[in-house]
Amino acid sequence: MNAHFPSFLKTALLTTALLSASHVSAADTDGIVVYNAQHESLTRSWIEGFTKESGIKVTVRNGDDTEMGNQIVQEGAASPADVFLTENSPAMVLVDNAGLFAPVAAATLEQVGDAYRPVHGKWVGIAARSTVFVYNPSKLPETELPKSLMDLADPSWKGRWGASPAGADFQAIVAAVLALKGEAATLDWLKGLKANATIYRGNSAVLKAVNAGQIDSGVIYHYYSFGDQAKTGENSKNTVLHYFKHKDPGAFVSVSGGGVLASSQHKEHAQAFLKWITGKEGQAVLKTGKSFEYAVGKNAESNPKLVPLQQLDAPTVDASKLDSKKAVELMTQAGLL
Ligand SMILES: [Fe+2]
Repeated sequence: MNAHFPSFLKTALLTTALLSASHVSAADTDGIVVYNAQHESLTRSWIEGFTKESGIKVTVRNGDDTEMGNQIVQEGAASPADVFLTENSPAMVLVDNAGLFAPVAAATLEQVGDAYRPVHGKWVGIAARSTVFVYNPSKLPETELPKSLMDLADPSWKGRWGASPAGADFQAIVAAVLALKGEAATLDWLKGLKANATIYRGNSAVLKAVNAGQIDSGVIYHYYSFGDQAKTGENSKNTVLHYFKHKDPGAFVSVSGGGVLASSQHKEHAQAFLKWITGKEGQAVLKTGKSFEYAVGKNAESNPKLVPLQQLDAPTVDASKLDSKKAVELMTQAGLL
């Protein structure tokens, strides 16, 4: 079309283009880009609250833990991301191991309980989730509940439980088993899983199948059930949650992480966002919203419907060392991926 346009019109068009381009870059200068692997609705609530209070614009790109983590590593210093938020910590470890995080501001770290942030302070916990065993009491009586997550590899559990091993949630659980039990025991357990478990795509699909009596039980995170209960309960009404407790690998509490990229050109605003999420207002979103994830702020309360975090008797796992690469390697070796 260029050739047919009078030059004054071309100039006008070009000026308009430049004006809108400069408008976009002005917003970019003020705003931050968040690569988000947390549940979209939770992050949306955080962003809305933060922008309302600070006036800082946030652009979000959504994906899952592994996908977004790998993308940041691939983009390296050229990444447009200012902040990275995950569902589980293995993806934070991925980016941290590539040396791409700037230290989290001390005031932010101080807001979060010691158990929910790595000592090195390169990223910080923003929320937490508990592993649970969901079962259908009409198919599985309470007396037959497993004592440990590790029991589910036993031949007696063949065809009786389900999981979603392709998802980052379950892979974090495997990384925790690896950290607690070592490589050989984890591989054995995964082979048992391959032999015994029915594979679903997503934790919601596992919950649905248990609810419908298609399978006796499953391993998921707690909030899938609470989220459904808060709606119609149609996918969870026939199910009960069993918490393994006793520091069992099945009582693993997974930490969702947040970090500021070292390459960020908007570090001050990026740090402010992380401070807000882990602060009073950001953590209150976890208590009052529909995410049903646990708050990790020092004085923050979780939704009163949840079993208190302190009562879960979770095993001690160093979230900054969870090895998703090795976990995925072992899962592949066991034929699960
Ligand atoms: Fe999830």
